[in-house]
Amino acid sequence: IKTIGLMGAMDEEIALLLQVMEGNEEIKHAGVSFVTGTLHNSKVVVCRSGVGKVNAAATTQILIDRFNVDAIWFTGVAGAVHPDLNIGDIVISSSCQQHDIDASPLGYEKGVIPYQEVSDYPADPRFVALAQEACALKCSDHHYIVGKVLSGDQFVADYHYVALLRETMNGACVEMEGAAVAQVCYMNQIPYVVLRSMSDKADGTADVNFAEFTVMASNRSYQIINEMLERL
Ligand code: ADE
Repeated sequence: IKTIGLMGAMDEEIALLLQVMEGNEEIKHAGVSFVTGTLHNSKVVVCRSGVGKVNAAATTQILIDRFNVDAIWFTGVAGAVHPDLNIGDIVISSSCQQHDIDASPLGYEKGVIPYQEVSDYPADPRFVALAQEACALKCSDHHYIVGKVLSGDQFVADYHYVALLRETMNGACVEMEGAAVAQVCYMNQIPYVVLRSMSDKADGTADVNFAEFTVMASNRSYQIINEMLERL
């Protein structure tokens, strides 16, 4: 791999990356700032997409077209869906799927994009393995799982909806960008992985927990990405 795109949605999610990378040069496209430099001997482009699938999709395509990245790693926070996950725990994406695309009146299951072969985009197995190695080293006191990341243009704060995401879509966590990144990577044949640390449980307390734990969870996700770069 020559150049890795390192992406987060919010400032908190990329803050430590920006602090530790070297040779920083900032370039703006479509209002998004991209910072190029090196980190543990890897060429990286760090960017903050903004929240939601459209921001994530546009930013991913810019990383591919203008910065020629060979891989994209997403780092950030999510709401826990898998019952074993607690705040701070890590999900490594086995795949990503949109939970809010819904053409059910046409006979498609929720989460399935009409007229398209793939709606659940597998992450790169080498990156998943690398993330697992990093977690095994760094997460001794904290749980991590490999599972499906569900994305949609909603901040989920409803216990019943979480149960639905778990039972009907087999989700491990829910956030607002991963599947958009994954889909654009798939369209361009670029390998990716999404790494998320849980800031909340996407239930009735999600808003309060998100406010309290986003910095802690963002930093946990960064620790894993940093370890992955060191081991690359
Ligand atoms: N990111 C962090 N927590 C989230 C939630 N509950 N829903 C959507 N995105 C999130």
